[in-house]
Amino acid sequence: MARLTWLFTAVCALALAAGASTARADGKSIFVSNCAVCHQPDGKGAPGVYPPLAGSVGRDVALKDGRNYLIDVLSFGMGGKIESGGDSFEGDMPPWPQLSDQDVADVLTYVLTGLNSNLLPANFKPISADEVKAERAKQLNAAAIHTERDALVKELGSKTGKAAASPVALASPAAPAAGASTARADGKGIFVSNCAVCHQPDGKGAPGVYPPVADSVGRYVVFKDGRTYLIDVVSFGMGGKIDFGGDSYEGEMPPWQQLSDQNVADVLTYVLTGLNPKLLPSDFKPISADEVKAERTKRLNSAAIHAERDSVIKELGDKAAK
Ligand code: HEC
Ligand code: HEC
Repeated sequence: MARLTWLFTAVCALALAAGASTARADGKSIFVSNCAVCHQPDGKGAPGVYPPLAGSVGRDVALKDGRNYLIDVLSFGMGGKIESGGDSFEGDMPPWPQLSDQDVADVLTYVLTGLNSNLLPANFKPISADEVKAERAKQLNAAAIHTERDALVKELGSKTGKAAASPVALASPAAPAAGASTARADGKGIFVSNCAVCHQPDGKGAPGVYPPVADSVGRYVVFKDGRTYLIDVVSFGMGGKIDFGGDSYEGEMPPWQQLSDQNVADVLTYVLTGLNPKLLPSDFKPISADEVKAERTKRLNSAAIHAERDSVIKELGDKAAK
């Protein structure tokens, strides 16, 4: 038993290291495990949603504000419409509080030297952890980052003689709401723009990596700690191997600091009532912003969430055995 406990702790510690990214990893592997899901492994992005990072953002670092802009996008996120290479993209770039200053420096240096090598100025210096630290202290919001980008695009445009500024993007009322998520949006809309990229639009997940959230997690809310587990997994993230319905999944569920308490309540209520209607107990009540607020003050780490899940699954097993 002692050995098992040790093993469990070791596994959790690994999950924690992966989740909290406190250990130093090389820029490319940070990219592969955090960024490639949207920007694609080759950095070429996806039409209409995820802009390319390859052969594009290297141009920014020739400008004085370009370095800071790139650090700010990772630190504070961005939303609303942008244009890149003649195409439009509209999606949410999440902020990355879970990456250390050194991680952000390393992943950006990889994006620049690995995916934009032919666009870098001759005097290019790697992004440093100190630069990241200085930017992060500014606590900007996602709307401000969009404005920074507009200014850069304008500078680049005047440099090449093209009028590349995008007044549409500046005027877009969706930018601050989508990026900073301060405004109330409906649960389904939050799901589509934040969760569907991994759990899929129908909530059925993807084999081996993203577990289903449809016809699955509704079972958990029969138990009191099942409700809090669901709130915690969205608030603090989770990593490591999990089992569901006879299949195994191993991936990273990011934490969602950028969603308000009300947003988390709404998206979970959508997942439960919209994607798990048949599994809910008859006395089910929507998840409230107050419940979310109470959980979030606990500041749990992602290893603890994995343990919470194990005990909910055990309760389900015990109930089925009766
Ligand atoms: C959930 C999807 C998603 C993930 C994961 C993601 N991004 Fe993004 N990223 C986006 C979207 C969407 C945008 C464009 C935002 C907009 O339209 O306002 C973007 C924009 C950017 C930009 C600005 C591009 C430009 O042309 O100005 C950079 C740089 C960037 N991301 C880097 C990263 C890095 C590095 C990571 C990993 C640490 C990462 N992204 C992870 C979705 C994502
Ligand atoms: C970058 C991919 C990704 C995104 C985006 C994402 N998830 Fe997850 N999610 C995962 C992974 C991977 C797991 C399983 C983690 C593990 O294996 O430990 C998970 C687990 C979960 C679970 C627990 C499932 C269970 O059976 O215990 C819930 C609930 C959940 N996610 C909800 C959401 C919601 C709601 C959102 C949007 C706010 C979201 N996820 C966004 C990857 C993602």
